[in-house]
Amino acid sequence: MRQTEGTFAARVVAWQRLHGRNQLPWQNTRDPYRVWVSEIMLQQTQVVTVLGYFESFVARFPDVQSLALASLDDVLGLWSGLGYYSRARNLHRCAQSVVEQHGGVFPKTAQLLETLPGIGRSTAAAISSLCYGERVAILDANVKRVVTRFVGFDADLAQTSNVHALWDVATALLPKGAAATTSMPRYTQGMMDLGATVCLPRKPDCGNCPVRLDCVATADGDPQRYPVRTRRLKRSSQSIWLLLAQSDDGAVWLSKRPTPGVWAGLHCLPMFASEEALWLAVPFAMRKHMQPIPAFTHVLTHKDLHLHPWSVALPVESFKDVQWGDGRWIQSETWSNLGLPAPIRKLLQQDTTR
Ligand code: ADE
Repeated sequence: MRQTEGTFAARVVAWQRLHGRNQLPWQNTRDPYRVWVSEIMLQQTQVVTVLGYFESFVARFPDVQSLALASLDDVLGLWSGLGYYSRARNLHRCAQSVVEQHGGVFPKTAQLLETLPGIGRSTAAAISSLCYGERVAILDANVKRVVTRFVGFDADLAQTSNVHALWDVATALLPKGAAATTSMPRYTQGMMDLGATVCLPRKPDCGNCPVRLDCVATADGDPQRYPVRTRRLKRSSQSIWLLLAQSDDGAVWLSKRPTPGVWAGLHCLPMFASEEALWLAVPFAMRKHMQPIPAFTHVLTHKDLHLHPWSVALPVESFKDVQWGDGRWIQSETWSNLGLPAPIRKLLQQDTTR
């Protein structure tokens, strides 16, 4: 087939069949549960990373009922290391909504799916087009790149009205006609695959793109210019002092972080806003055993966290009269399965293998 033959959608579909990704573990199924879990995992995480989590997640929670019945701690435990934990909290709430409000069956339209926790317009469209062939456009970051470049859409996506206009463009590009429903799953996957493997942010591989001959950005010779977006994330930073209290039976003191806030719902070492506050929380007799651990920075989406850990390792009896907040002593076999922020897990692993 020559490049110029067929509509945009037909070319994306034909390309996906030959060059797209067709063997990922959440593909070749119309099970909305598996598709939904994968789409949520893939929202801020690369495919290679998700591959290591998806199978164990669906093995442990094979359907929406088992996920709805699970404890949030178990869900966060399996999510541990994937980051962006609000996704896991919403996943759990969403499973409960599907069970309680939809009789355990996922709604079949994007419009209804979008009413569920954690499911935005693009994720709703991904689920309904991949599972039910609904003719609705997705528009995640990768697809925004494909669409803005193809049509030369250079309005600033920092403005909501421009994002709305881009949704309309994406909708106008969808497959049309009698076969639209049957081609929708492959079209949606094709748009994702083009964005992830060809229409790359910095080095687009235009030579291998099925729509290059009609692509405005390619014709202009500067595809990297798209998408246009002026707003910058306002970043902040925060310094946190951490107390790693460890008893000689291998237990560490952990407590659950309050919601809302940094690491809400995850288990964490006691956190303090200053070094003084940390020392005040440690009984006088224990202070000479305090050891600093080199400080490091952990980068969150909107914030740099400067972490200053101190450890105190003593026999169990030395700790019998102390406690920090509403936490408890937790053995390593237990904490390794809990939802822990990635830098805290790293600290605990380093410390217990010393
Ligand atoms: N990114 C978001 N959804 C995806 C999917 N279904 N396959 C591959 N990458 C994705």
